Amino acid sequence: MTNIHYDSTLTDDQRRARIYAGDIFVYSPLAESLALVKLAREMLAQTFGSVDPEMAQFSMPVEQFAKVLGELKPRFIHHPECKRLLPAILGRLGCDPGKTYFDVPRMRSAASNDYLTTGIAYAFHPHRDTWYSAPFCQINWWMPVFPITNDNCMAFHPRYFSQGLRNTSDRYNYQEWNRNSRYNAAQYVDVDPRPQPKSLEPVETTPDLRILMPPGGLMCFSAAHLHSTVPNTSGRTRYSIDFRIVHLDDVEGMRGAENVDSHSTGTTMGDYLRCTDLSHLPASATAAYDEGPPQAVAVAAAR
Ligand SMILES: [Fe+2]
Repeated sequence: MTNIHYDSTLTDDQRRARIYAGDIFVYSPLAESLALVKLAREMLAQTFGSVDPEMAQFSMPVEQFAKVLGELKPRFIHHPECKRLLPAILGRLGCDPGKTYFDVPRMRSAASNDYLTTGIAYAFHPHRDTWYSAPFCQINWWMPVFPITNDNCMAFHPRYFSQGLRNTSDRYNYQEWNRNSRYNAAQYVDVDPRPQPKSLEPVETTPDLRILMPPGGLMCFSAAHLHSTVPNTSGRTRYSIDFRIVHLDDVEGMRGAENVDSHSTGTTMGDYLRCTDLSHLPASATAAYDEGPPQAVAVAAAR
């Protein structure tokens, strides 16, 4: 069962335990998250000039749209304010800054009306981040930059939190992906040939769970949750920000969600930065993850 907690006062230890059991936490906008939204909006305004960023897709060729977003997104990811605001957000929400490590935030765009669903605006099919070499203690955070609706948000498929799917995650290795595919996103405006881990069996995507929060509102959930991009039929490009965290105690203790079907290799452990000093996780803590998730696929869920 997936419970949704709104503005919970649970401690971070309690929250992580609930998240590893499949729960989702939703928080009202904070001054710090609104500052991040403001930064994203300012950068989008600089990029698109007088054109509304949510409507810009309708006034430029798709190649140009992909190109300008391809230039904007790395600038946002590496903006120094992001490395200040993320620890501030996490601190406000009870994370221990000395033991919480975050990955730089991504800005995502989901164009409307099938204008662009590949490359820089990849419309994610149902997937778990653990199929993409994320550890089972990874917690994903997500927030909208502009108001969202049920037809331009993201969706969860909660029944699969405990139910495995046959999938191609065994072909995915994060280190290999970084070497070969990641930096080519903006060039794929038609088909996207990059190998994405996918289910090999039909996924029952309805009913799904869609959580709508205001800009700057946040939700966090396990990287093992099956989730997808809702086909955007809203008439507006959706922009969102997401980032990922891990807690040192859980990395060392190999705690996290159950592995019901992930066979990816490699690890994202090298990406996380400590909130206090932006240092990386100690190699002694992450060595067990280098080859792939140390959590074996649960026998009961294996097919
Ligand atoms: Fe994802």
